[in-house]
Amino acid sequence: MKVAVIGTGHVGLVTCVTFANMGHDVVGTDVDSEKIELLTRGVSPFYEPGLEEAIKTETSSGRLSFTLDAAGALVDAEVVFICVGTPARADGEANLVAMEQTASQIARHAHDDVVVVEKSTVPAGTADRVRTTLQREGNGLRFHMASNPEFLREGMAIHDALEPDRIVVGVESAWGLDVLRRLYAPLLEAGAPLIVTDIRTAELAKHASNAFLALKISFANALARVCEHAGADVTTVADIMGADPRIGRAFLNAGLGYGGYCFPKDVAALKHLSERFGYPFPLLSEVERLNEEAVEAVAAKLREALWNLEGKRIAILGLAFKPDTDDVRFSPALALARLLLASGAQVVGCDPRAAGGAKEELPELELANDVYEAAMGAHALVIGTEWPEFRGLELSHLREVMTYPLIVDGRNLLDPADLVGSGFWYYPTGRPPVIPDTSRAEGGSDDGSRSAPAPRQPTPLP
Ligand code: UGA
Repeated sequence: MKVAVIGTGHVGLVTCVTFANMGHDVVGTDVDSEKIELLTRGVSPFYEPGLEEAIKTETSSGRLSFTLDAAGALVDAEVVFICVGTPARADGEANLVAMEQTASQIARHAHDDVVVVEKSTVPAGTADRVRTTLQREGNGLRFHMASNPEFLREGMAIHDALEPDRIVVGVESAWGLDVLRRLYAPLLEAGAPLIVTDIRTAELAKHASNAFLALKISFANALARVCEHAGADVTTVADIMGADPRIGRAFLNAGLGYGGYCFPKDVAALKHLSERFGYPFPLLSEVERLNEEAVEAVAAKLREALWNLEGKRIAILGLAFKPDTDDVRFSPALALARLLLASGAQVVGCDPRAAGGAKEELPELELANDVYEAAMGAHALVIGTEWPEFRGLELSHLREVMTYPLIVDGRNLLDPADLVGSGFWYYPTGRPPVIPDTSRAEGGSDDGSRSAPAPRQPTPLP
């Protein structure tokens, strides 16, 4: 089938390569000439595992091409996927200007019986607006609206797109459904579940899914606060809860909270949409508040341990909003860096992929090439993103280079058992801390650590 994809961001590009992989003829278009130039050379504009290879494979097979010329991309298309950005305005409302501009382009250049599919995450009711624009500007164009929300995760995007938990299609005509079924035939034949519904339900289901996942994370973070006071371990509490299939273990990892381009924007957009209907959805405001609190809790631990932050040097390992991406948008690690900088600390960060993006976003941040360079002279080290490469830290090397042996684990990445006897003060999130036993040596530690003031803990270690 002939497919046009408008917008080559994360969702758009993955849509391009996966439909090409399924054997369709795909043209991707974008208003960003630099991006199109990179893509036509087979270069991905951002890091996503497997994406660049897939772009190269599909473009050389002739099934995928990229163009700045949206009119040319639209003229033959049987299906058009709208994958443009829907960023949040200051009040949380989704900014749908790019959706409207795209609808105008489709109205002018598409041919009759085109199926117009929203893939961008949009508030319920957006398809009605797109339809009105198509009717006003389409000069009698016959078209079929549909919604096909995307549930892919950055870092796992190609896998999620080719092996989806569900394919959701919101349609209003048999034609639209038939076209989408044919388009997804290879995945449906492989057993992917298809949920067919009306357009508004499909639109709302995407916001509801992301908001619920954010809610699970905020719940885990609220529990972490309680566990810290009760002397319990939030990770095991989550394991026990998650063993119940009605709850599920996923997205119950306490830490610095959620970030990225989707959760913060989608929670705010769902809240804004419900407020517009007269229902303020206070639960979502609490989810947002708890997410901010997760970052503040780590800053508070540092303040407690280090006393004044002015002049203290703090290393943050991991700057991306999560591992396996170079994306720093709404990264909790950067939110922490901002708080620490505002308190007068020097902040140095490192990240396997996101260092450049982080520096652009936060120029005051110092960058280091690796963990040990970041730790050099630091009074504390914080795990900001759970990159697997940070798991195998050489603790003795770290102790040699750091000013104070203090680790605050904002992602519960390290195994507390590895910290016992290391001489480090180790503060995970929602789990009992590990503190060096200094009782045997009067006036100093028997493991040679230089002493740092330890955060006040309401209960002693077991
Ligand atoms: C999210 C959803 O998971 C996808 O299903 C959805 O399609 C996508 O948004 C979107 O709307 O496009 P993504 O933003 O790539 O995907 O990232 P996630 O893997 O969901 O992680 C989001 C944030 O939550 C990260 O900052 C992560 O560190 C944090 N998180 C996740 C936790 O703090 N705890 C957890 O237990 C899980």
